[in-house]
Amino acid sequence: MRFPSQIHITRRRFPFSGIPPPKCHHHHHAASNVFLFNLNQTSQFHGYPFRFLGSRPVSSNTQKFSFLPNSGFGLSGTFSGRIFESFVAPAVRYLSTSVETRVNETNFQKIYVQNGIDVKPLVVERIDKDEGIAGEKDSRIEVPSDDKVVNKEDIEGINGVSVTKSNEKEEQSEIEKEGWRLLENAVVMYCGSPVGTVAANDPGDKQPLNYDQVFIRDFVPSALAFLLRGEGEIVRNFLLHTLQLQSWEKTVDCYSPGQGLMPASFKVRTVPLDDNKSEEVLDPDFGESAIGRVAPVDSGLWWIILLRAYGKITGDYTLQERVDVQTGIKLIMNLCLSDGFDMFPSLLVTDGSCMIDRRMGIHGHPLEIQALFYSALRCSREMLALNDGSKNLVRAINNRLSALSFHIRQYYWVDMKKINEIYRYKTEEYSLDATNKFNIYPEQIPSWLMDWIPEEGGYLIGNLQPAHMDFRFFTLGNLWSIVSSLGTPKQNSAILNLIEAKWDDIVGHMPLKICYPALEYEEWRIITGSDPKNTPWSYHNGGSWPTLLWQFTLACIKMGRIDLAQKAVALAEKRLQVDRWPEYYDTPTGKFIGKQARLNQTWTIAGFLTSRMLVEKPELASLLFLEEDYELLEICVCGLSKSGRRKCSRGAARSQILI
Ligand code: GLC
Repeated sequence: MRFPSQIHITRRRFPFSGIPPPKCHHHHHAASNVFLFNLNQTSQFHGYPFRFLGSRPVSSNTQKFSFLPNSGFGLSGTFSGRIFESFVAPAVRYLSTSVETRVNETNFQKIYVQNGIDVKPLVVERIDKDEGIAGEKDSRIEVPSDDKVVNKEDIEGINGVSVTKSNEKEEQSEIEKEGWRLLENAVVMYCGSPVGTVAANDPGDKQPLNYDQVFIRDFVPSALAFLLRGEGEIVRNFLLHTLQLQSWEKTVDCYSPGQGLMPASFKVRTVPLDDNKSEEVLDPDFGESAIGRVAPVDSGLWWIILLRAYGKITGDYTLQERVDVQTGIKLIMNLCLSDGFDMFPSLLVTDGSCMIDRRMGIHGHPLEIQALFYSALRCSREMLALNDGSKNLVRAINNRLSALSFHIRQYYWVDMKKINEIYRYKTEEYSLDATNKFNIYPEQIPSWLMDWIPEEGGYLIGNLQPAHMDFRFFTLGNLWSIVSSLGTPKQNSAILNLIEAKWDDIVGHMPLKICYPALEYEEWRIITGSDPKNTPWSYHNGGSWPTLLWQFTLACIKMGRIDLAQKAVALAEKRLQVDRWPEYYDTPTGKFIGKQARLNQTWTIAGFLTSRMLVEKPELASLLFLEEDYELLEICVCGLSKSGRRKCSRGAARSQILI
């Protein structure tokens, strides 16, 4: 049995070894455990046994293993295909190593995978070459066979803040009630457990395209809504299942992108088996069937951000401490930090590699990716266990963080003063201490910007390349720079001042515009490739996306501007339910429901619910944002200051980027 769309990804590699492929037999059931927790109590968090999709003893000491041929996706019939979770004792780090093989004798693991006819060894390079984890020999773990329902009594108080508990539901408004009902309807089950939410549940949708999939980025607000309501199970399942998908080998026309890439989305498929039975499999899309074959660079970054949020909100840090989860973080980080030809510390990507997942002229170093990258670097540094195996990576993360924040704060920032400087730039400067490092021609400053930039406030531009500044205002990148502290505290406040000053353009009738302004005429034709969905002031090209409300709310609360968040939430509240929760709005002020907008769009609903909860309990927001890290500003590895011959450009400019 083979699905045409699966052909490209039937051969998988498992860097964690021994881990069963993500499928389960449909005929055995696992009860869905509702995992509630209560953050009101402040006593110590205790580890607890978790049951996933079945329980049996698992062994971790398999270095090589082979899959026997079968008629399915080239996967073993000998594995029961269950996913397991080990018992995790609270005080012992890395006990949950049941899926881990770190074999010291070699830096490479050979994994033999049989795919139908051909047998081919896949060589998976180990990422942590110098790593030896204590206690791994004893990592054979009995998974408790009794089903343990984890509820709020099992998990005692954590970060001293309270979440919306079930008994507070009565206070919900009608619109929130409907939102929750729709969000619950969007939940996707896999082997009896919730694993995510579909992108949209539009009843009138005759052509769902891929909106019936669980998108990694779309699930983030759903996850936060559930977490803030005290439900962690779905988020935990999501994080673990997507972690497994990360290790699939994927190819686009026989080329494999880097290991560690997270899919853009996945779907649960039911596959008939020979004997009138069926099994469920997770079918990921790494971009190989996505429109435009875009690489979902943001997925792995969101995954790391969500992993931290899960720990922070539930207090269950055992998940991030698991060795397979630690390896997952490292794979993503290694992929992002791998050397290339790039001259900048920002991450180089192709067009459409994030929320704007089609051609919009955002190839190169788009702000959204940089903000997520910075955030994921910081979250990883916080979550990675420091040991011999991780120290080099952590050092690389610190260096990159410091270089990246300098680069963005210094070169992406524009306000009245900076635009005036650019306006007077000299060009063709060949030297190490050029002012106009990227050779920006002042003629590039668009005329709309000269009129538009307010006296107060400023923002981070959309992209920076040699001789190219993309002056468009991209909302998500700017908001996430605030949330993650990529911008300086002063810049972060100034971004909100600009949004306030330009309220009609960025918020208008519906928060918030994805980017400003729209590409029109020739620019639209050349830059979007005449995309009929991205016509001016529609969809990604200046459309308004209600999901962005949650990032805005978070940014406002962080900067002490809850008043702005309240105003935006009130606006959304007036229309979202009446308009049936559309994906996006069109026109320069966001007046009309988007031309091709899906209704009952899950991240619209979840973004609203999350924003409402954050506005009601702003103290919760602090679990989700990152404060300025002053130590980072001190790091500089260029060594120039020590040699004394030349001055380090960053050292010289430090006064500007500090606060
Ligand atoms: C569109 C959006 C993308 C989103 C997907 C599912 O492709 O551009 O950001 O993840 O729809 O909602």
